[in-house]
Amino acid sequence: MQIESPGHERHAMPEHGRSSASVFAEMFDRKTTDADWQNGRTFNLVYPTGRSDVDSVLVEANNAYVFENALNPVRFPSLGSMQREVLDMVSSLVNAPARSGAGFSAGGTESILLSVLVSRERGRVERGIEHANIVFPRSAHPAFAKAAFYLRLEARATELTTDFTADVAALADAVDANTVLVVGSAYGFPHGVIDPIEELSTLALERGIPFHSDTCIGAFVLPFMERLGLEVPPFDFRLPGVTQMSCDIHKYGYVTKGASVIVYRDEDWLTHQLFDYDVWPVGRYRNASVAGARAASPVAASWALLNYLGLDGYTEIMRGLLETSARFREGITALPGLEILGHSIGPLLAFTSTTDDIFAIADVMDARGWHQNRVHDPSGLQMMIAPLHGAHVEEFLADLADAVAHHGPTHGDGVGYT
Ligand SMILES: Cc1ncc(COP(=O)(O)O)c(C=O)c1O
Repeated sequence: MQIESPGHERHAMPEHGRSSASVFAEMFDRKTTDADWQNGRTFNLVYPTGRSDVDSVLVEANNAYVFENALNPVRFPSLGSMQREVLDMVSSLVNAPARSGAGFSAGGTESILLSVLVSRERGRVERGIEHANIVFPRSAHPAFAKAAFYLRLEARATELTTDFTADVAALADAVDANTVLVVGSAYGFPHGVIDPIEELSTLALERGIPFHSDTCIGAFVLPFMERLGLEVPPFDFRLPGVTQMSCDIHKYGYVTKGASVIVYRDEDWLTHQLFDYDVWPVGRYRNASVAGARAASPVAASWALLNYLGLDGYTEIMRGLLETSARFREGITALPGLEILGHSIGPLLAFTSTTDDIFAIADVMDARGWHQNRVHDPSGLQMMIAPLHGAHVEEFLADLADAVAHHGPTHGDGVGYT
């Protein structure tokens, strides 16, 4: 939902309908001004594989469930069974133990909101906490602060280390008797680096506090890097302190938007996520997501693509994606003044310039249709590399070299795209 700006002239519904041809002509005309993700020029928001077979599976699955409603899996048992299997597949991908529980949500933000709700309720019921707080490094996604805002908890954001990861000592200092959740990210969005999840897991375990490993990005990246034999820092339920994980299928799972999973170490905790109400004249109203009526196509698309690609398919995509990412890394660091921030691995990175204004460089890139995310402290550009970008590395690097060599002053606001 967009909040209307003051002075916006209200656009009334047309008195008479018009032809679908004219409706679509106008729609597609407007669409020409959108970010050109199909030509690999956008480094977040959309995660294209560049594979027409994958796109066909997604479109067919979406179309097959475009009218259904995932609110009621009793009426649509096919959705119920597909959702159950998707939850199981994602849980096993992140090594959740046998007694784990999971819920499907519309995205990372909803998964995080539900996780914070469950933690607040566990804190209240199990520890008698009435004025709860959550503690996270300030690189954690704003969804945690948003959840604290919605659920009336105190949000405590801690400083980062010089390599842009969570400072474990700072988190430890911020934790107190009212802390109901500690957070770390694998990956963190701003710099594309991974927090010391193992140390945070130990901290949380020692203090007896739930710990959310936010793998909205990493859940469909790190397991496949591991399968390719790469050294990946521990990030999932194999660490005993990790109590919950958010895993977005609509990012590096490559599924169209509206698909995420929240996984809990213990299925009993899911009861705190459940809204169960029987006062309504219609009878019992019971569900475990924020929305009531809910799009069915994200469930169908997730089920279809996870089955279509399988672990092998995702691993092969990752193999190519790592090669592409290495080409970006080499090309960027070969340019004068450009430097990668922190120790990023895999398909995420952020870079700055030690000699030039990086936002002035970004302005030139924007003008040429390349959209990277601007980050601050220090100023930098962040990229989430997708498989489709493999076909556009040289073109990107040529424009970046040109932007480094020939740029004016920045237009200055440093406003990002997220
Ligand atoms: C690490 C991380 N967590 C959570 C989110 C929120 O996900 P969504 O935008 O799907 O709500 C994002 C989004 O980029 C993210 O990068």
